[in-house]
Amino acid sequence: MGTAWTSASAIDQWNSIPHETMVAMDLDGDFAKRHLVNPTLLRMLGPLPGRRVLDAGCGQGYMSRMLARRGAEVVGVEPADTLFGYATRREAELRQDIRYVQADLTRPPALGEPFDAVVCSMVLQSIPDWRAAMRACVAALRPGGLFVFAVNHPAFENLWGTWREHGEYRLSRYLTGYDMPQRYATDFHRPLSAYFNEVVALGCALVEVAEPALDARVAREAEPTMPGITAYVDLPAFLIVAARAGG
Ligand SMILES: C[S@@+](CC[C@H](N)C(=O)[O-])C[C@H]1O[C@@H](n2cnc3c(N)ncnc32)[C@H](O)[C@@H]1O
Repeated sequence: MGTAWTSASAIDQWNSIPHETMVAMDLDGDFAKRHLVNPTLLRMLGPLPGRRVLDAGCGQGYMSRMLARRGAEVVGVEPADTLFGYATRREAELRQDIRYVQADLTRPPALGEPFDAVVCSMVLQSIPDWRAAMRACVAALRPGGLFVFAVNHPAFENLWGTWREHGEYRLSRYLTGYDMPQRYATDFHRPLSAYFNEVVALGCALVEVAEPALDARVAREAEPTMPGITAYVDLPAFLIVAARAGG
């Protein structure tokens, strides 16, 4: 990873996300979230009515709204002005009782009572000092609370792109950290072991590790407009982890 990144400079990149992109992802995210990430996160979280849930790095807030629709008491934390602004405007329109807090997870604000669950979806890979952010997520939980996080699978981060180009997955480095410029912001690669070892070091017990696969029929239907998406049938684009906080 380059040494020039700060949390603030990484966050600032997210302000370039266009309004129409946030609108397109308003209900349930994009194709990959709809078919792979959301079903796994929601299954791992279990029953939501009455449970206090933190959406850590909530972006434009689609997951916060999904959780609130299912009966959770939701707090969303998001640092980037553009995304935070969208989420709070939607809350003003929909009145789902979601509380949004504009904050950087590496300098966590006071968020009130401990949470029954913390969801951190596609966020840790975007944070240079991701260990501080993960620490904040776990610290926000009550003893025995559930920490669920999703990242681009560290072993298959460029799955769709390389599959489209080569018809197979290709990878030339994995063990060291490096920057990965994406459409709106730079992500940061770390190996699988870094994420797992940190969760365990924070006193959590692993509950489940998921590498969700795309349904073959859904992939076939999407392939004409999303060439290369069939890669998601046999290789995992996402790593989703559920862990329980210690007492
Ligand atoms: C790929 S987006 C995911 C957003 C949302 N969780 C979702 O699934 O739509 C990455 C998010 O991480 C947020 N982020 C980046 N650095 C952060 C930090 N230090 N603390 C909290 N959130 C951060 C970005 O602002 C952005 O909203």
